[in-house]
Amino acid sequence: MTDPDLLRTPPSLEDYLHLRAASGLSPKTPEQGRGAVANSWRWSVVERDGRAVAMGRVIGDGGWYFHVADMATLPEHQGQGLGRRVLADLLTQIDEAAPPGAYVTLMADEPGRRLYESMGFVETAPHSLGMRLAP
Ligand SMILES: CC(C)(COP(=O)(O)OP(=O)(O)OC[C@H]1O[C@@H](n2cnc3c(N)ncnc32)[C@H](O)[C@@H]1OP(=O)(O)O)[C@@H](O)C(=O)NCCC(=O)NCCS
Repeated sequence: MTDPDLLRTPPSLEDYLHLRAASGLSPKTPEQGRGAVANSWRWSVVERDGRAVAMGRVIGDGGWYFHVADMATLPEHQGQGLGRRVLADLLTQIDEAAPPGAYVTLMADEPGRRLYESMGFVETAPHSLGMRLAP
């Protein structure tokens, strides 16, 4: 790995919850966050002064199905290329570990769309629409 401040270990639970909430993603409880921190397939995290300032993770089976989640950069660190580095590293980790033919998905909220498109993601609609179970 070439980025010295890019870690492939999960953030602390405290940093995870803070990064989500501070970047404008829906806040999660510690109970919810514990599973994310402990059970994701891969993480990429940028730290500054020992605290996570940008993160992303992959939920996946290690075989073919991989879902990118929790792409978030603290507002004061946005626009400096950290999100791009995190996503590039997650895709590298998939390339390194998965057999050819990985199916990589994400739910693209508006702030991330340009980034995702510029890194090769395309819309799945109308062939396939993202759906979720209504709360
Ligand atoms: C999406 C997000 C993670 C990007 O993180 P970031 O560290 O700011 O990203 P980068 O600095 O690497 O910028 C990546 C690309 O995002 C786009 N971008 C950056 N700042 C932007 C802005 N203010 N408005 C629109 N697009 C912007 C650009 O396309 C940029 O590419 P470029 O560097 O070639 O111009 C960050 O904006 C964020 O945390 N948003 C709030 C949480 C969220 O909605 N996450 C996405 C969930 S799907």
